[in-house]
Amino acid sequence: MSTLVTGSRGTVGRAVLARLHSAGHAVRAASARPAGLAVPDGVEAVGLALDRPEALEGALHGVRQIFLYPQPAGIDALIEAAQAAGVEHVVLLSSASVLAPDAEDDPLARHSLLVERALAGSGLAHTFLRPDAFAANAVGWAHSIGRGLPVRLAHPDARTAPIHSEDIADIAVEALTGGSLAGRTVALTGPESLSFREQLAVLADVLGRGIRVERISRAEAERQMGAYMPAPMVASLLRFWEAADGVPATLHDTTLSLLGRPARTFRQWAGENTAAFGGH
Ligand SMILES: NC(=O)c1ccc[n+]([C@@H]2O[C@H](COP(=O)([O-])OP(=O)(O)OC[C@H]3O[C@@H](n4cnc5c(N)ncnc54)[C@H](OP(=O)(O)O)[C@@H]3O)[C@@H](O)[C@H]2O)c1
Repeated sequence: MSTLVTGSRGTVGRAVLARLHSAGHAVRAASARPAGLAVPDGVEAVGLALDRPEALEGALHGVRQIFLYPQPAGIDALIEAAQAAGVEHVVLLSSASVLAPDAEDDPLARHSLLVERALAGSGLAHTFLRPDAFAANAVGWAHSIGRGLPVRLAHPDARTAPIHSEDIADIAVEALTGGSLAGRTVALTGPESLSFREQLAVLADVLGRGIRVERISRAEAERQMGAYMPAPMVASLLRFWEAADGVPATLHDTTLSLLGRPARTFRQWAGENTAAFGGH
């Protein structure tokens, strides 16, 4: 029984692929940009952009399970091709954002919501993983930190429960190999509610160097973020952070209840990723 791992270049997809392969499961790596993709020895890599169905048939040949990144533009074609290929279970990397009251109108939340809905109505067995913000989002501060510049934020006191990508990958593998999570929706968070300011203090401590935080206006944040992401995404993130400003993040003990161990901390993530911030 082979598993197709989409988003094999992504932080979570890459970790899922490595775990399944090293545990001896048959896997195929799919990526929208397969050229130069590093996969474990012996793993077949295929080009598959989820919003372009041309390559689906070949990618799904012999596949019984899919680890899926959400892409509403191609989901109907993917479901049809998966059913034709005999796929039995889809594990979706969804998002906690689908629970937001405005999820229907929010471009980021809607992206995952539409894929959840399509799978829920498809008859395919599915598991929805709904992580809170990734600890790895802190890499977005690396440019400023590496140059000794202040990290400029509109909502430095917005609180999330940052989750380590390896914990998402561990739960995904449990869903793909354990058999007990089919039909379930799994909320995933890190172990602590931390503001951006607190995350930066952890990073400063781990890196052994001061990091300045500067509060900026919403208009400044729109200009700053608009340089590298589309305006609707900027608006969506700023709305999310405004709603989380000073509000403790909800915590879930899913890693403990499903894997029997606590979730990795943000400090652990920071310690493993000092190189991204110019550390050693
Ligand atoms: N970042 C967060 O805080 C957060 C929180 C909750 C949920 N999520 C969800 O997690 C997912 C990935 O998050 P991320 O970007 O932060 O991290 P990531 O795991 O690094 O994902 C980026 C990867 O997504 C894959 N991808 C994107 N568009 C694709 C397409 N059209 N077809 C196939 N694959 C595609 C690409 O992999 P390939 O290049 O290999 O195709 C890309 O490298 C998103 O759906 C997001 O909604 C993120």
